[in-house]
Formats: sequence, C-alpha cells, structure tokens
Amino acid sequence: KKVVLAYSGGLDTSAIIPWIKENYNSDVIAFVADVGQSKNDLINIRQKALESGASQCIIVDLKEEFVTNYVYPMLKTGALYEGNYLLGTAIARPIIAKAQVEIALKLEADGLCHGATGKGNDQVRFEMVYSALAPQLKVITPWREWKFRSREELLFYLESRNIHTTSTIEKIYSRDENSWHLSTEGGILEDPWNCSKNDCWVWTVDPKNAPNISECVSVKVENGNIVALDNIFLTPLECLKRLNFLGSKHGIGRIDIVENRLTGMKSRGCYETPGGTIMFAALRALEQLVLDRDSFKWRQILGLEMSYVIYSGNWFSPIRRSIQAASDELSSELNGEVVLELYKGMVIPVKKSSQNSLYSKEFVTFSSDNVFNQSDACGFTKLFSLSSRIRAINNCYNSKN
Ligand code: ARG
Ligand code: SIN
Repeated sequence: KKVVLAYSGGLDTSAIIPWIKENYNSDVIAFVADVGQSKNDLINIRQKALESGASQCIIVDLKEEFVTNYVYPMLKTGALYEGNYLLGTAIARPIIAKAQVEIALKLEADGLCHGATGKGNDQVRFEMVYSALAPQLKVITPWREWKFRSREELLFYLESRNIHTTSTIEKIYSRDENSWHLSTEGGILEDPWNCSKNDCWVWTVDPKNAPNISECVSVKVENGNIVALDNIFLTPLECLKRLNFLGSKHGIGRIDIVENRLTGMKSRGCYETPGGTIMFAALRALEQLVLDRDSFKWRQILGLEMSYVIYSGNWFSPIRRSIQAASDELSSELNGEVVLELYKGMVIPVKKSSQNSLYSKEFVTFSSDNVFNQSDACGFTKLFSLSSRIRAINNCYNSKN
C-alpha cells in the first residue's frame, strides 16, 4: 500500500510518516510543493523525509504556476476575505492538493494524507480538492485520528522511534508561507487583547522603522494582469518578488485580524502580503478609470463571491470557473499604467492612465467646457428623483424625514 503525504518538513508531518507506516501498514511518499516558502524550509528536506521513513520524496516547483494560474486570476476578481485578508494560505491549497493528487494517481497510490488539524480551514481545503479530483482515494487525517495532543508528545514519539529532528518544543507560532503571503497564528496572538510583537512579523519592517523617504513604482497592466514594473517586463512570479521586496522595505501589507473560520470558530492572525497589497491597489486604481458604475459594482460582487469560494477551498468547481470567466471578461478593459508611492506602510496610487479610460477631463472639469450642456441635467435630476417627489406628495411630507 502507498500513501502520498503533503509534507512540509516540520514536526507534525515528520511524525506523520512513521505513524502512517505503523497504523496503516503502508509506504509513505513525501510530497513537497514548492510554492515559494522560505528556502530554509526546503534545505535537506528530501533527506529529512527519508530519515523519517518515507520511501521516497518528491519535490515539485509550483511557484510560477501558482502566481500565474491561481494568484493572478484571484487578484483580478478583487477577492478579499471579510474585507481584509488577501487569502494567501487559501489560494495555495488548491495547487498543492492538485499536484499531490496527480502524483498519487501516477504512482497508483491508495491514499492521500495532510497534516492540517481538525479545527481549521486547511483540512477542508485539502479535502475539497481531493474530493473534486480523486474521490476514489482514501484520505488519512492524523490530527483527527491519533492520540497526540502537543508538540512534546510528537517529539517524544519521534524520539522513541529513533528519528532525529531539529524541531523543538519552543516553536510558538503556526506559520504558513508562499510567494504571495506569510501568516502567523497562535502563541501570544491567541489573546486578541495582546498586541502583536516584533517576532510576529517576518517579511515586512515595522512601518515606524521604514525609510523616511518614499519610493515610487510604476505598474503596467494588460487585461488585468500585471506585466511590467518600471517599464521592465517580468513574469508574474518576478513581478510579485520585486513588489514583495519593495513592499517589505516600506512596511506595506501587514494586517492583524480576527476572522471567521469555516469550522465556526474565530481565529486571530498576523498576515503579511506586501507585494499583493501593492498589486491590489494598482488594479483598484485602474478600475477607477475604466469601469463604469454598474461594472464596478459587478466587480465588487464578483470579488465578494470569489473570496468565499477561495476561502472554502472550492477552487475546482463550476462557480470558480464561472466567476473567473466573468472577471476575465471585465478585465479585458483593464489596460494601462499606475504609479504607486510607497511610504511607511501606505500605498498611494499617485498617477494612473489607461487606453480604455472613461475618464474625461473635458466633461468633468470645474472650468468652462464645450461639450456638456448643464441644462440637460434639469430633466435628469427631475426624473431621477421622481419617485421621491411622488412619495412626498402622497404622504403630505411624511414626518419620518
Ligand atoms: N487563517 C488563515 C486561513 O485560513 C491562515 C491559515 C494558516 N494555516 C496554517 N496551516 N498555518 O487561510
Ligand atoms: C490548521 O488547523 O491546520 C491550521 C489553521 C487552519 O487550517 O485554519
């Protein structure tokens, strides 16, 4: 028997390897998705997996595909969960789980395994993908099955099996990292009345310590995709890396929030999405030039819906494809350039232009113009307010007002 495990090299998934072998009498294939997590996490990971007892370790580089086919389409819809969260963990789960399923099918494995706990969102996201792509495979979920309850117990278990680990009991935070974001949960953050500490933030400098001099970056957009920075054409991953660098330097993209999990409970987390925050602001600025009022509202609706779809791990679904199709259509107008100023945690779109712009200085000017006849608005305001007038007349000037 063979099980493919989504392996990170951390303590939990290291303990899972011998545990599966003992409890399912099965070989374990460690699968590592490189979605841009820290290089430190990937050093010696194959050796670690084999030392923990995996029969093989397969590492797949998904970085470019992640940004191109998951992050960019999400960004174009404007998805933002509960008004704040750029969905950094949620958007990576589908590509990781899909690649894991592909390996399981190729190697004719019997089962899939992930290391997410029974309390969180990630278990749902992994299993949503497994169900959509390979419902025939068995799913093993150690955190919902085994008796271990703490890091101490996991360390003790590994020791008893003579498996060497570099993990320690002191690890305080639960972290998740990819090219788009880094999340920090747990530890002191579990009390929402505790301020975050410096060690809750990894990528970004504290805005208070960011440079006193602002910096501008120009972002070129084609069909809602960011294609160039400061007039240099780059791949989506390269754009993101460059903006992560600039954003981190200027303390951009930190949020400290309480969110509603799928499992009903609330959790508190500190998330860093520096490049993503700049990208989001750039697209927003272009939309302001290009989208008419109803299209803009539709874009907001699409973004709201997409945020729930992605948060729930429902990526491989008709609803995701249909929102994406609508958003692609809307984004075909999003062409142009935005200059953003970065300064102590702020991203300010200071200049914007688009060949699809509906902005007309001739029409909107406060100075005199030759295109707009202001008396046209007499009929407009009269009819626009007609129902108000009729209501007022019928109610003889209702006292509610
Ligand atoms: N609460 C965030 C989310 O559900 C972050 C989850 C982080 N996951 C983790 N395994 N540390 O998307
Ligand atoms: C976990 O429970 O494994 C991490 C947090 C989450 O999935 O929401």
